[in-house]
This record gives sequence, structure tokens and C-alpha cells, in this order.
Amino acid sequence: MYIRTLRLKQFRNYDRLDLQVENKVNLILGENAQGKTNLMEAIYMLAFAKSHRTANDKELIQWNQDFAVIDAELEKKNGHATLGIVLSSKGKKTKINHLEQQKLSDFVGTMNVVMFAPEDLHLIKGGPRLRRRFIDMGIGQISTVYLHDLSLYQRILKQRNQLLKSMFPVPQEDQEIMLDILSEQLSVAAAKVIERRFAFLRLLEKWSREIHEEITRQSETLTIRYQPSCNVSEEMDLSMIEKRMKETLERDKQQEIRRGLTLTGPHRDDMSLFINGKEVQVYGSQGQQRTVALSLKLAEIELIYDSIGEYPILLLDDVLSELDHHRQTHLLNAIQSKVQTFVTTTSVDGIEHQTLQEATTFYAKEGTLTKMK
Ligand SMILES: Nc1ncnc2c1ncn2[C@@H]1O[C@H](COP(=O)(O)OP(=O)(O)OP(=O)(O)O)[C@@H](O)[C@H]1O
Ligand SMILES: [Mg+2]
Repeated sequence: MYIRTLRLKQFRNYDRLDLQVENKVNLILGENAQGKTNLMEAIYMLAFAKSHRTANDKELIQWNQDFAVIDAELEKKNGHATLGIVLSSKGKKTKINHLEQQKLSDFVGTMNVVMFAPEDLHLIKGGPRLRRRFIDMGIGQISTVYLHDLSLYQRILKQRNQLLKSMFPVPQEDQEIMLDILSEQLSVAAAKVIERRFAFLRLLEKWSREIHEEITRQSETLTIRYQPSCNVSEEMDLSMIEKRMKETLERDKQQEIRRGLTLTGPHRDDMSLFINGKEVQVYGSQGQQRTVALSLKLAEIELIYDSIGEYPILLLDDVLSELDHHRQTHLLNAIQSKVQTFVTTTSVDGIEHQTLQEATTFYAKEGTLTKMK
């Protein structure tokens, strides 16, 4: 899939932008603070209906304005779609083919995007929240059902946590009954999320292992393991996972009431990565962590192709300068012509690669983009 036109109105430092793009590599050059990341953010919004760097949509609206608009025409293998987002003080509206979508989850997934930004280099060493987010976004792109299951899980979790807090120090009888009901519901929702995450990581491992071996010239084998907080394993079926989850909640009930928190479940799970059997989080060098992050992102592209039959749009925000020559080359080789890509950088000095030489080049300055070649 690829974007044909992108229009912005009062989005961050773009007063107005009307961009025509082709299905190829687009290089956005520009000094710091000119609007490179803002452009990537706008495209990212069209895929996920939320920003990759803020949870507060108001920040996206241009200062002193009261609304912002993002519009795009998207070409997909079975036709084209018009996507639109309007942000205002009243909230966020999303449209597909000019029809307002009732739920964000109906909007998300129409356009697929894989983004690689310097923050992703923390994916390995950073906290588990980042890795859960990576997994959830990855699955969410290929399964709307998963997004529904996950948001249901999160709703029940919130209710359950509120209830737990209100049960301390002396639980009422009706609260005990309610807790059992919520534990049951939470276990059902949790099992669906966990099962899907196991399956996703298995696929991700298949793709990223191959890519990682190629980048490291066959010297490193990557292994990915889902780390559930509950005693479950990949071989278990849905009902078994559900049962284990329920048993765990029952076992920890008193402790959870004391702490006012649900201690087990997908919101506490993590993933571990290993190179030649050694945990990357613990033993990996900076370079190895970067390579793993790169392998995971490139794997995500293939995984999306595998499940929906077309490539997503790739956003590479400021990552070229973070990679050494060998990994830059690998990345640029990988994207050549098959994926519509937006690459930003302050400078291409020292990077001589055909992909960049052939790219359509824009120059970003103070919220404008000028086509250079
Ligand atoms: N809501 C807003 N309204 C107007 N301008 C904004 C808004 N939010 C951010 N900006 C401006 O956008 C600029 C940042 O743009 P952006 O993050 O795209 O920079 P960049 O070109 O990616 O720079 P770098 O190379 O440093 O990453 C900020 O300096 C800020 O002045
Ligand atoms: Mg930037």
C-alpha cells in the first residue's frame, strides 16, 4: 500500500501542507526542529489514530488554533481509500471514505505503518511496557479482533483494580462476589490476549531470526520468548490458559486486596530476546541491541505482508545516523523499491546508497516541504 496525497492543516508546525508522493522512497532532509518528525507523526496518526510520542492530542493542534486536520489518499491492492482525522478541543474524529467511524478500532488497521525511530533502540533495554506496546501494536495492525479483546481486557482490569482498592481493609460480602465475577471475566479476556501474543511472537521470531542471521553474517541466532506473569505455556489451549489465570487470581486474592492491584495478567507480561542463547537485555552490547531492534522492525514488515498480502508504509525517523555503515546498508537494501518509505535525516553525508540517490527528496524548513528532486 502507499500514500498518494497527504494534506495537513494546522498540524504541529505545518500550517498547511499538500503533498503528492509516489510509491517509492521519500527522503526528507532538514535541520533540527523543522518538522521532519511532525510529518512522520501525521502519517503514523493515520495508521493508529494516536501519536507515537504523546498521549495528548491537543499538543498536535497548532498553537493558537482550535483544530487540526490530517487527510490522505491511500492506494491499496484492492482499491483506494480516503482517510481523515480531525482533532479539536471536542476530541478526535476519524473518517474512512468520508464516513465518520464510530470507534477508533474501526479506523485503525486500514493503513499499515511500521515506524523505526531512535526510541525503538530502547525496545530491548527499556522497561517491559515498551515491549508490550510493541507486541500489541504489531498484532493490532493485523487483527482488529485483537484490539477489541485487548481493550475489553483493559476495561475489566480497570474495574477489578477499582474494586480491589475499595475492598481494603474490610471486604464486604457483595464485593467478594463481584470480585469472583470479574476474575472470571478477566481470565477469559486474558487467555485470548496471551494466546495471540504467543502466536505472534512465534511468527515474529521466524522472520526476525532469518533477518538477524543475514545482518550478522550467520554468526548470531535470535530467539524470542514470551514471558507470561502467569504460569502458562505456548502449548496450552485457550481453556487451559484461562484456568491457570483463574487459579492464580484466586491464589493471590488476599495480596491483591492488600495492594489494590491485579498482579497477574497480560498487563504484567514481557518478552525476552536471546542471541545464541544469551539474554540480550542482560548481555547484549549496544550494537547487538540495535541490530535486534532493526531485525524486529524489518520482520514486522514481512509479517504484515504475510498476513495481509501487501507491504505496510515504512517510516524511518532519524535512525540512519544511529546505525553503523554495515547496518545502514542492510536497512537500505531491505527497503529498496518494495515498500513506500519516508526517511528523515539531517544529513546524508557519508551515506552513499542507491536507495537514497534514487529517492524523491524533500527539504523541510519551518513547517514547509520543498521537493528537490
Ligand atoms: N502544536 C504545535 N504548534 C506549532 N508548532 C509546533 C507544535 N508542536 C511542535 N511544534 C514545533 O515543531 C518543531 C519540532 O518539529 P519536529 O519534531 O518535526 O522537528 P524535526 O525536524 O524532526 O527536528 P529534529 O531533527 O531535531 O528531530 C518544534 O521546534 C516546535 O517548535
Ligand atoms: Mg525529529
